[in-house]
Amino acid sequence: QTSLKSAFEPDFLIGTALGTEHIFERNEKANTVIKREFNAISPENVLKSGPIHPEMGRYNFEAADRYVAYGQKNQLYTVGHTLVWHSQLPRFVQRMNHADSLRKFMKEHIQTVAGRYAGKIDSWDVLNEALHEDGTLRNSIFLKLLGEDYIQQAFQWAAEADPHAALYYNDYGIERPEKRQGAIALIKKLKDNGVKIDGVGIQGHWGLHQQNLKDIEESILEFSKLGVKVAFTELDISVLPSPQKLNGADVNQNFSEDPHLNPYQKSLPDSVQQALSLRYEGLFRLFLKHKDKISRVTFWGVNDGQSWLNEWPIKNRTNYPLLFDRDYNPKPAYYSVLKIK
Ligand code: XIL
Repeated sequence: QTSLKSAFEPDFLIGTALGTEHIFERNEKANTVIKREFNAISPENVLKSGPIHPEMGRYNFEAADRYVAYGQKNQLYTVGHTLVWHSQLPRFVQRMNHADSLRKFMKEHIQTVAGRYAGKIDSWDVLNEALHEDGTLRNSIFLKLLGEDYIQQAFQWAAEADPHAALYYNDYGIERPEKRQGAIALIKKLKDNGVKIDGVGIQGHWGLHQQNLKDIEESILEFSKLGVKVAFTELDISVLPSPQKLNGADVNQNFSEDPHLNPYQKSLPDSVQQALSLRYEGLFRLFLKHKDKISRVTFWGVNDGQSWLNEWPIKNRTNYPLLFDRDYNPKPAYYSVLKIK
């Protein structure tokens, strides 16, 4: 096989998340890899409400327009991410304390953004991360001011603004049984009320030694029983330890000298490369097994250098979560994924 997209062409789409350097084609190596390997794109940040809608009634469409045009020009399946999310919200929205103003913002935002790109965005993450770990609805500004009906309204406004886009609920950790039950309830309620929802996005920010194939398989089966497609929307595998308790500054202090927090700063040992290859191989074997239920597998970034996992949950680390290294060369994990086809 010569590329990820051609290898998995009969099965599901293979996507990547684009940052501004890719959208504005400032990085030739990266843009070559994108066009060669992927047939779907997601916007890492430029379509989020904070960046695109910085002030009441003022939009900043430049980067988003370029993103959508890039997808069209290169005939890539183009994802919109995301219409309603508690994070990366404009400041003027974070300060709101009346239901009416928040509802008006949400409606206008969805109509304006989804409406502008109607017919050009193939799939929208309408709602992102609306659940707590225990499966209850996240106590976000949306839930607090609008009550749980905001969910149904968001999907209805999105369907009106762009009747042809596939509409998704997107979240992390919904493969875990407790949180999964919350996602199932959310999807079921929309379905029962006749509201359009086409798919569920499992983000897929996972760890190297996480044993979660069984949870993932059960989720694929349970979600698809509800009559929705399953997408893996933000796949990456952190090779670094994830501190359980993040005490902000405490954890960040002197981290780069702490070998526990950043053990592979200089290079990745062969043993870890191997573990990463096996981890990706296991995931893709599972995805292939259920290819009829899966619409898309998208990596959260093109290469290790771009990954948000160098900055999260701790700043300034050196992580190796993707299939291409910092020079845009395919890593052993890339070949382990290709070889299963
Ligand atoms: C991340 C981006 O990758 C970062 O650049 C940004 O600073 C924060 O957001 N879940 C999501 C994505 O739905 O939008 C997040 O993207 C990663 C977690």
